[in-house]
Amino acid sequence: MRNTFPINKFRELRTPFYYYDTTLLRHTLGSIRQELARTPMFRVHYAVKANANPKLLAIIRESGLGADCVSGGEIRAAVQAGFPADRIVFAGVGKADWEIDLALDYGIACFNVESAAELKVINELATARNTTAKVALRINPNVGAHTHANIATGLSENKFGIAMQDMDEVIDLALSLPHVEFQGLHFHIGSQILDMGDFVALCNRVNELLARLEARRVWVHYLNVGGGLGVDYAHPNRQSMPDFGSYFDVYRTHLKLRSYQTVHFELGRSVVAQCGTLVSHVLYIKQGVNKKFLILDAGMTDLIRPALYQAYHKIENLTPADESSKEAYDVVGPVCESSDVFGKSVDLCKAQRGDLIAIRSAGAYGEVMASEYNCRTLPTGYITEELL
Ligand code: LLP
Repeated sequence: MRNTFPINKFRELRTPFYYYDTTLLRHTLGSIRQELARTPMFRVHYAVKANANPKLLAIIRESGLGADCVSGGEIRAAVQAGFPADRIVFAGVGKADWEIDLALDYGIACFNVESAAELKVINELATARNTTAKVALRINPNVGAHTHANIATGLSENKFGIAMQDMDEVIDLALSLPHVEFQGLHFHIGSQILDMGDFVALCNRVNELLARLEARRVWVHYLNVGGGLGVDYAHPNRQSMPDFGSYFDVYRTHLKLRSYQTVHFELGRSVVAQCGTLVSHVLYIKQGVNKKFLILDAGMTDLIRPALYQAYHKIENLTPADESSKEAYDVVGPVCESSDVFGKSVDLCKAQRGDLIAIRSAGAYGEVMASEYNCRTLPTGYITEELL
């Protein structure tokens, strides 16, 4: 599946903006659905943090996925997009009281709890509402992931989850509290993971912990293994969909599941990254001392990943005057920060003022992380249906 761009429509729109290829999104969701049909105990919750654009949420909800939320705002966005409350889970290391109340009022499926202190607060707030909160405990599995340090979460040095040595004690607490109902365990080792061995290591750790709990006659019905499947940023056309088959096969092969267990996945990036493109205009071409700068009207306020994580995004000139002549540019934005750079020494078709530039694979953690720094305007997101 190749992304195709309605370039004539693009010319009419105010840049920068996000364009979402919903044909590709639907194909991606179809591929996930096929995998789920093969293994009925697998469930996928879309990680809303990757992209909360309501138009995309509606399409994702139609496909039957649940929603994984990390704030009261995300829970509201999911409910507004029509996700049923019993398909919404709520994670996050610092849930505020009002967020817990909101989730209790909606009657969401599960809280992924990150500490004993949080568990007690959830119990208190549920008691006050005369209800019971379903909880899973997020365990920090101390499993490394081959990814950028800022997006690895499963090591004991990270702030996330309950340390393995505290697991039994916190489970006992959960079992003793009258207004929480212990469902199971939650894990997440990081994001943009392409080495399936990392997920195998997680499965091995989960098996170990489950055996330890079974020996204590603690039954875990709900297993949530988080998200983290990466995408091919270098080849958005060739690899427009992640290899969901190999990913789910890791869990089919390596998790020692009991018949009463369901396995939940929280996929974000792998669902939406490749369908999104940040589209921008060339404002100026500036000759530097040893290089040329291509100055765009999009900046780090629209897509912060390169500035924040030195992330690579493929850049293309969509409207070159001459396809055959190439030039290398440092592609930069207009924001007053030296880190406002999308790529250095990028080979592009020779550009001129007014050319449309595509920054690819920007559907995940792009629009949703945009800011108004420098009093800039937030980018609009358009879907294919709007530009027909
Ligand atoms: N579940 C939990 C508990 C998470 O913390 C995350 C992502 C996910 C699921 C979804 O992971 P995914 O399938 O998208 O890898 N802003 C960064 C990524 C931060 C990821 C945070 N947690 C970036 O732009 O690369």
